[in-house]
Amino acid sequence: MGDKKSVNSTNHSQVEMDNTFKKGKADDTVSPDDKVSENLSSETRINVDEDEESSKTEATELAGTTELLDLEIQDIEGIGPSTTKKLREAGILSVMDLAVAGVEDLAVDINSTKDSAASFIMAAQKLLRESNILEKEFITAEAALRKRRSLLRCSTGSGVLDELFLGGIETQAVTEFYGEFGSGKSQICHTLCITAGQPVESGGLDSGVIYVDTEGTFRPERLEQIARERGVDPLHALKNVAVCKVYNSSHLELIVKNLGKYVDDYKAKLVIIDSIISLHRAEFAGRGTLADRQQRLNSIMHKLLRIAEIYNIALVVTNQVQSAPDTFFGDPTRPTGGNVIGHASTYRVYLKKSGENRIARMVDSPYHPYGDVRFTVNEKGVDDLEEELKKGSKRGKVGVSKEDN
Ligand SMILES: Nc1ncnc2c1ncn2[C@@H]1O[C@H](COP(=O)(O)OP(=O)(O)O)[C@@H](O)[C@H]1O
Ligand SMILES: [Mg+2]
Repeated sequence: MGDKKSVNSTNHSQVEMDNTFKKGKADDTVSPDDKVSENLSSETRINVDEDEESSKTEATELAGTTELLDLEIQDIEGIGPSTTKKLREAGILSVMDLAVAGVEDLAVDINSTKDSAASFIMAAQKLLRESNILEKEFITAEAALRKRRSLLRCSTGSGVLDELFLGGIETQAVTEFYGEFGSGKSQICHTLCITAGQPVESGGLDSGVIYVDTEGTFRPERLEQIARERGVDPLHALKNVAVCKVYNSSHLELIVKNLGKYVDDYKAKLVIIDSIISLHRAEFAGRGTLADRQQRLNSIMHKLLRIAEIYNIALVVTNQVQSAPDTFFGDPTRPTGGNVIGHASTYRVYLKKSGENRIARMVDSPYHPYGDVRFTVNEKGVDDLEEELKKGSKRGKVGVSKEDN
């Protein structure tokens, strides 16, 4: 990891480049011991929008994880040395770690009541809000809209699929792709590994990627192919992706628990978990253990959502399908994990094979219109179909085809 010079925009000065190399993106980096970085950072922020005071605050808010480096657990109201020690022993070393913790898990980890655990988490979040890292409790809808318009989005590699998302995969959200075997879930994940490393102007996040592989289907050779076919230097692209092969559900839970640290370490703005369910599904097979499985999945999903929001990153998970014999109309398949995964995912997309091609359908979203798009999988990863490109001028924001409804 680390050598990100090639994916950053080329008009940066050398100082900027070095700074970027050390700390990730120049515009979201402030280090107390790095004056150059501090100056660059404030300069970049002012450049975001010189006329509007509110935009500056917004840029600071969106700047992400940097100011956090200055915040210590001891700075949190109501947390003294003994709690700090207990938190440290539980692996919670930063304000961010505490802010994204789950109440139940924290209570167990530090041997406290749920009420105390909740109050510590809320106090950490309050400090982040006061430091402009987290959104204020109330903002006007107008400010919320401005903020959403400036959210970073990552291209999927397919124009029509990006249209389905109204501009690509969103940061600060959990996007779930579910579909049967071979429907293209892992192919989307592989393509995202390459697109995310690209500069923001090219539809990327200019960031590292974390890929958690629970099914053993991650293939670096495929990344190499996708990068080459897209005219991206494969070596740099591969260095940008941190892969973790996970073997059992406890291991996955541990990775998710420590995800904040990995996000910082790898300067990741995209985390992929392919798939979220396979290990839990295999290990908690019997009916009797279903409640336990659901509770664990629930805890994972909520943690992922908090991490996406607080660290300002995009989280992509894949999910399998199971047959639903009680379905009389339409497709007799459903995502696994029941409501637990669905409720925590911000966006839910169903993938389906259609001959040689694939159909993606936005199933659940707080604001996207219900719609289908057709795409293909080829050497470039996921890609647009020739015929869809020709139709391009006729389609609206999202191409809705009625035939598969
Ligand atoms: N290099 C490639 N070129 C073209 N198509 C590919 C390539 N690699 C994989 N595919 C297609 O992707 C399919 C597998 O999709 P995948 O995303 O791995 O499925 P899943 O939804 O189970 O994760 C294969 O059946 C094949 O059609
Ligand atoms: Mg797969």
